[in-house]
Amino acid sequence: MITLSTLQKKKTEQEKIAMLTCYEASFATLLDEAGVDILLIGDSLGMTIQGHTSTLPVTLEQMCYHTDAVARGAKNAFILADLSFGSYQQSKEQAFDSASKLMAAGAHMVKLEGGSCMVETTSFLQERGIPVCAHLGLTPQSVNAFGGYKVQGKTDAAARQLIADAQAHEHAGASMVLLECVPAELAKEITTSLECPIIGIGAGISCDGQVLVLHDALGIYAGKSPKFSKNFMQGQISIQAAVAAYVKEVKEGSFPSLDHSF
Ligand code: KIV
Ligand code: NA
Repeated sequence: MITLSTLQKKKTEQEKIAMLTCYEASFATLLDEAGVDILLIGDSLGMTIQGHTSTLPVTLEQMCYHTDAVARGAKNAFILADLSFGSYQQSKEQAFDSASKLMAAGAHMVKLEGGSCMVETTSFLQERGIPVCAHLGLTPQSVNAFGGYKVQGKTDAAARQLIADAQAHEHAGASMVLLECVPAELAKEITTSLECPIIGIGAGISCDGQVLVLHDALGIYAGKSPKFSKNFMQGQISIQAAVAAYVKEVKEGSFPSLDHSF
């Protein structure tokens, strides 16, 4: 069974971590058996499962429902669940209350979006037994503040801020950092300067691991696919084979290529 220690060891031994989003039990079993290390119950389910145009309408109850289903389907994989929009930003106490429900549903770690304003929350949860993954860069719950889904950390000032935020979360006790849509060079710098595993999506090849939204990796999302995603069904005869190809490309370091990076 994959635990926090296993994941930390993978970083130390430079073995890449393969992660995919997962929202239900049948896929949980399939991904688990294909060797996916981490199953993320992402609030991207608001788009892939519910058909919304953002992750904002997703509720904590829905996240718990999907986490419960995924946890029941998985045997070995590490279970990471997103805190939904509005379920943790108000206070660290609110965050603990919400995170404890995800943990009770079967999560092994929770993910929250946000830089310096979330650092106190990270330490509050970590000190009380809930491992935290800090999601930085393009944080989709802030799409309205960003004015669209855009690459982050492009200016020198923004890059320095992102490095500082990642370090602050690690010092506060974050067990993992997820970088979305940031320049590959910046992600590399953060990966080498932090001790916890760094997972990237649209963050280049140098991260300790990669994640994709399952529906993007299978080429079945009806909306626009982001530049960093890849359809692993191409050339494969089954979903199992496509997922195995994803795991292989992540582990051997051939995904993402420059075409899938910024
Ligand atoms: O919700 C999600 O799928 C995510 C990934 C994009 C990292 O947070
Ligand atoms: Na998410």
